[in-house]
Amino acid sequence: MSTDLNSPFRTKTVEQSIRDTEEPEHQLKKSLSAWDLTIFGVGVIIGTGIFVLTGIAARNNAGPATSLAFVAAGIVCALAALCYAEFASTVPVAGSAYTFSYASIGELPAWIIGWDLVLEFALGTAVVAVGWSGYVRHLMKTNLGWDMPVALSGPDAGGTFDLLAFLLVLALTLILVLGTKLSARITAIVVAVKVTVVLLVIVAGLFFVKADNYRPFVPPAQPQAEGVSGWHAPLVQLIFGYAPTNFGVMGIFTAASLVFFAFIGFDVVATAAEETRNPQRDMPRGILGSLFICTVLYVAVTLVVTGMQHYTQMSPSAPLAEAFKSVDQPFFAGAISLGASVGLITVCMILLLGQTRVFFAMSRDGLLPRVFSVTHPKYRTPYRATLLLGVVIAFVAGFTSLEKLAELVNIGTLFAFVVVALGVIVLRRTRPDLHRAFRTPWVPLVPILSIAASLWLMLNLPAETWARFAVWMAVGFVVYYAYGRGHSRLGRGMERGAEDVPKTPPQPPAPGV
Ligand code: ALA
Repeated sequence: MSTDLNSPFRTKTVEQSIRDTEEPEHQLKKSLSAWDLTIFGVGVIIGTGIFVLTGIAARNNAGPATSLAFVAAGIVCALAALCYAEFASTVPVAGSAYTFSYASIGELPAWIIGWDLVLEFALGTAVVAVGWSGYVRHLMKTNLGWDMPVALSGPDAGGTFDLLAFLLVLALTLILVLGTKLSARITAIVVAVKVTVVLLVIVAGLFFVKADNYRPFVPPAQPQAEGVSGWHAPLVQLIFGYAPTNFGVMGIFTAASLVFFAFIGFDVVATAAEETRNPQRDMPRGILGSLFICTVLYVAVTLVVTGMQHYTQMSPSAPLAEAFKSVDQPFFAGAISLGASVGLITVCMILLLGQTRVFFAMSRDGLLPRVFSVTHPKYRTPYRATLLLGVVIAFVAGFTSLEKLAELVNIGTLFAFVVVALGVIVLRRTRPDLHRAFRTPWVPLVPILSIAASLWLMLNLPAETWARFAVWMAVGFVVYYAYGRGHSRLGRGMERGAEDVPKTPPQPPAPGV
C-alpha cells in the first residue's frame, strides 16, 4: 500500500470509502437486515452446484466421496468467510472484495479484484441462467409434452441461442432496476421453495438409500480416458508430473474444485453491505449463517443421492430428480425439477445484483466511467450499470455453454478469496485503530490457512482454466492502464471529501465500456 497518489498501490482510506456512500447522487437505500442477508445468501448459494454439479462430480471424479468434496470446499469457504466477515463489517460499502482491497492493499490490486469479480458474477449469472433453462425445458417436455425448438435451446442442447436463459436475465434486470426491496421479497418466497425441495430430497430420499451404493466410498484412482490431453488435467497433477487420474484421494480434491461453485454466493452477501441497516452486526451473521446452513444441506443431499443410486449411474444434468426416478418415484422427481427451476431464478438474480454493485463501486471511484454510478432518483438503484450489464449477460447466457464457464468462475472467485485474506492481514497492520464489529480469529493464521486452501483448490482446476483466467486478467491490465489509472478519483486527488466530488450529470454511457 502507498499514500503516494501516483503509485499503483495508492490506497483509498476506509473513512473515504464510507463517506463516498453518503453522496446523495451515489447513494443506495439502506433497507436490508441480517435476516434479509441470510435469505440472500441461501438464495444465491443453493443452485446449479448442488442441483447439477453433484452428479458430474460423483460420476467423473469422486463417487460417494463427493460428500467429502463438499466438506473440503465448505472448509475453504468457511476460512474465506471469516476473512470476508471482518472486512464487510469494517468497510460497509458496496463492492465486496474490490472495496476491501482498495482500502488495504492498493488501487491496482483492487482493480484486479474488481475485474475478477466481474468475471465471477457475470459468467456465474450466465451459467445459472443456462442451467435454469435446461430444467424448464425438461419440465415442459415431461409434463406438457412440449419441446422447445432445438435452435432456441442453446449450445448445450445442440442449438445456437438459448431463448429462455436470455429472457430470464432480461426480466431479472428489470426487477433489480425497480429496487432491492422488491427483489428481496421475491427472493424470500423462492428461497423457501428451494429449501423445501432440498429438505424433501434429504428426508424422502433416506428411505431409498442402499448401503451397496456406498461401496467403494472412495473409488480407486483411474487414469483419465484415452485422448484427454494434459491441457484438461488439474494443474497440480501436471506440476508434479503425475499421469492425470480420476477418483482416488486426488479425485476428491478435483471434485471439490468443481463443486466449489455450489458455495459461491456467500461473498455476494458482502456486496450488499452498503444497503444493510446495521452492517457491523448483520453482515457477519448473514455471511456465516448462510454458509453454515448450506454446507450442512449439501453434505446431507450428497450422502442421500449417492446412496440412492450408484455413482456410475448418476445423471450429469438432473441428478437429484433422476435419483428419485431410479427408485420409481416420479412424483418426487417432478417436484424436485419444479423446485429447482424456481430456485435457480434467485441464484441468477443475486449474482446479477452482485455484479452490478461491483461495477457501481468501480465506477464511483472513477476506474470505470462515473455515469454508471449515478443512482435512479426514485428507485435509488444503479440503473445504468444494471441495464448495461443485464443486456450483455443476457446475450452471453443466450450463446454460451455451461461447463468451462463454471470452472472459470471458480478460479476467479478463489483468487478473490486469496486477496481478501491478504487484505485482512495488511489492514490489521496498517489500520489497527479501526473499529471491527467482527474480528477474524487467530490472525494471521486463519488468513494464511485461507490463502493456502484457496490456492490448493485453484491448483486442482484444469490447466486450460488457468490459461483462460490469465487472458482475462491480462485484458484487465490493459483496461486499467488505458482508462482506470488516468480517471481514478483517488489518483486525481479527489479523495478528500464529498464536497470535492463533481456532481455527475446524467450522460449516455461511454462507448466501449
Ligand atoms: N452457488 C451457486 C450455485 O450453485 C452459484 O448455483
